[in-house]
Formats: sequence, C-alpha cells, structure tokens
Amino acid sequence: MFSYYEAQADSYEDFYEGRGQAVGALAREYPVDTKAISSLLSGFGRGNVVDLACGTGFWLTTYGGNCTSVTLVDQADAALTKCKQRVDKLRLQAKVRLIQGDIFEVPLGQAAYDACLLGFLLSHLPERSGQRTSSFERVRFHTRSCWPARLATRSTFIR
Ligand SMILES: C[S@@+](CC[C@H](N)C(=O)[O-])C[C@H]1O[C@@H](n2cnc3c(N)ncnc32)[C@H](O)[C@@H]1O
Repeated sequence: MFSYYEAQADSYEDFYEGRGQAVGALAREYPVDTKAISSLLSGFGRGNVVDLACGTGFWLTTYGGNCTSVTLVDQADAALTKCKQRVDKLRLQAKVRLIQGDIFEVPLGQAAYDACLLGFLLSHLPERSGQRTSSFERVRFHTRSCWPARLATRSTFIR
C-alpha cells in the first residue's frame, strides 16, 4: 500500500470527482459523498487538530481555516509534497506542521490535540491485523476528548 500512495499522489484526488480507474460503477456516488463530507467538515476543527494519514491534504481546504494549528501526518513523501503545495496555496503555512511517518509510530504526544481527522483510512487497514482498533486507540490517545466522534466512510457517516 505504501508504494501505491507514493506512485498515485498526482492522480489520487481524481476519485473525489468520480474519475479514475478505481472508481468504476461508483463514479456518480463519489462526488455526492465528497460534497457531503465537505459539508460535514466545514464545521470541524476548532483548536489544535491532527490529520492522521492526511494524504494530499484534500480536506484541509474545507476545515483548515477553522483551526488554531494543524499537524498533518502521512507515510508517503509524494502525498505530502502535494499536501505542502495545498498548504502554500491556502496560505496556512504559519499554523501547519507536516510530518512524514507511520501514524502508529510518530510521537505526537498524549492529549495534545482538540480534534483528529482520520479520513478514508480504515478500509485500507486489514481487519484481522488489529490496526483498525489501533487507529482508534491512537485517536483516543492523541486527543483531549474524542467524543462525540464523527467518522466518515465512503458513503456512511456515524455520529
Ligand atoms: C485513501 S488515502 C486518504 C488520504 C486522506 N486522509 C483523504 O481523506 O484524502 C490513505 C492515506 O493513508 C496513508 N497511510 C496508510 N497507512 C499509513 C500509516 N500507517 N501511517 C501513515 N500514513 C498511512 C497513505 O499513504 C495514504 O496517503
């Protein structure tokens, strides 16, 4: 998976618009989901936020202006390069920190954040590996309070 995201950084965001090979029959659904998630995130992110597995920082456009600070973490150098371009375009440099690393290993500190975004990651974590549970443990560890939790999957919101 890691090499996939290194290679796909330039075209990764296409699926949000319903384009690209991976989308297939869901081409019409993705833009609808993208709009709904943007709406959800427009009210997200007061205080200090950590965006784990941020990829290209696609959602930063929606929530970045709400935050005091944003820490963006991803393992893929190519994705973070795109993310940095977005940060510059949005003029958010003063409050953004970009970290390349594994979200399960990067030392971010306990209760260091007011909110955490974990976008479109869970489906990539093998259920049997225990990483899905571990990812929630990371969210709980790094945030001062993670409730009410808002989780967005491809087409489902859990509040
Ligand atoms: C489907 S993309 C989602 C990107 C972004 N959160 C979004 O919603 O557009 C998944 C991202 O998770 C990153 N990723 C997967 N496992 C990771 C890990 N253990 N540590 C850091 N990043 C990881 C990948 O590099 C990729 O950029």
